[in-house]
Amino acid sequence: MKFETIRRQLEGVPFIHPVNARRLYDWVLEHSPEQILELGVAHGTATVYMAAALDELGTGSITSVDLLASEHHYVPSPEQQLARSGLSRYVRIVRYETGYSWFLHDEIKRQTTNDVCAPKYDLCIIDGSKNWTIDGGTFFLADKLLRPGGLLVFDDYSWTYALADQRRDATDGVSHRQLSADELNTPAVREIFELLVKQHPDYAEFELYPIEDWAVARKVKSEQKRYQVSYGAGPVGIQDMLRDAAMRLIRAAVFRPR
Ligand SMILES: C[S@@+](CC[C@H](N)C(=O)[O-])C[C@H]1O[C@@H](n2cnc3c(N)ncnc32)[C@H](O)[C@@H]1O
Repeated sequence: MKFETIRRQLEGVPFIHPVNARRLYDWVLEHSPEQILELGVAHGTATVYMAAALDELGTGSITSVDLLASEHHYVPSPEQQLARSGLSRYVRIVRYETGYSWFLHDEIKRQTTNDVCAPKYDLCIIDGSKNWTIDGGTFFLADKLLRPGGLLVFDDYSWTYALADQRRDATDGVSHRQLSADELNTPAVREIFELLVKQHPDYAEFELYPIEDWAVARKVKSEQKRYQVSYGAGPVGIQDMLRDAAMRLIRAAVFRPR
C-alpha cells in the first residue's frame, strides 16, 4: 500500500510523528526486513505504517507487543486499524500482563539452543514505558534478538515523568510520587541511549532526531563510532508537523490513562 494511501487512512490517530512514520515506511521498503518487533503499540499506528510498507514488498512480518491492560483502552484499536486497511496478515499483536519484558523473556527462550540465542529481528522499536528500569533492561533483552546490522529505534528521547505529571499521577503503573526529583526530571530514554546503547561494543552508528524525539542505533561493530544529529522537517513537511503538534496538545489535555 502506498504511503499516501495509508497516511490518509491513519490521519489524526496518534502516536507516531508523521516524519517518523515516513522514515519507518521508507526504511522498511529499502531494507526488506523479514521480522520487525514493535514494543509499545497503543492504536497501532506505527505498526500499520510498517505493515503498509511490507504490503508493497509482499513479504515480512511484524510482532507488536503491549500491556494486557491496554487491550480495551485504545479506540481505534490496532486490530481495528489493521482490519480497516486490510493489512492484518502482516502483524501479530501480543499483550502481556506485565508488558514486553516478559514477552522478551519468552522470545529469548524460544530462540535459545545450546545456550545460544539466535537473533531474529531486523528492526526493533522501543516505544513503551520510557522508564530507566524497564527500558534499560529492555535494551539488553532486545539486543539479544536483534540481528547484526539491525536497527534499534527509541521514541520519546526527551520525555520525562515531570512532563507527564502535569496531567496524571502515574504512567503505565509507575507512580510519579515514588520517584526522586532527579528521576522525575531526567529523560530516561536519553540516559538509556547515551549511557547504555552508545557504549555497547556491538553498536557504532547513531542518529538523533531532536525535533521528532527519536534516537536510532545500528547494530554494527566498529572501533569508529559515528554519531549524527539531524534537524529538519524531513520528507513529510511542515503541514503534518503542525497537525501533529496540535494533536499532541489536544491529547495532552484530554488523554487520561486508566
Ligand atoms: C506511545 S504509545 C506507543 C505508540 C506506537 N508505537 C505508535 O507510534 O503508534 C506507548 C505504548 O506503550 C505501552 N507500554 C507502556 N509500558 C509498557 C510495557 N512495559 N510493556 C508493554 N507495553 C507498554 C502503552 O500501553 C502504550 O500503548
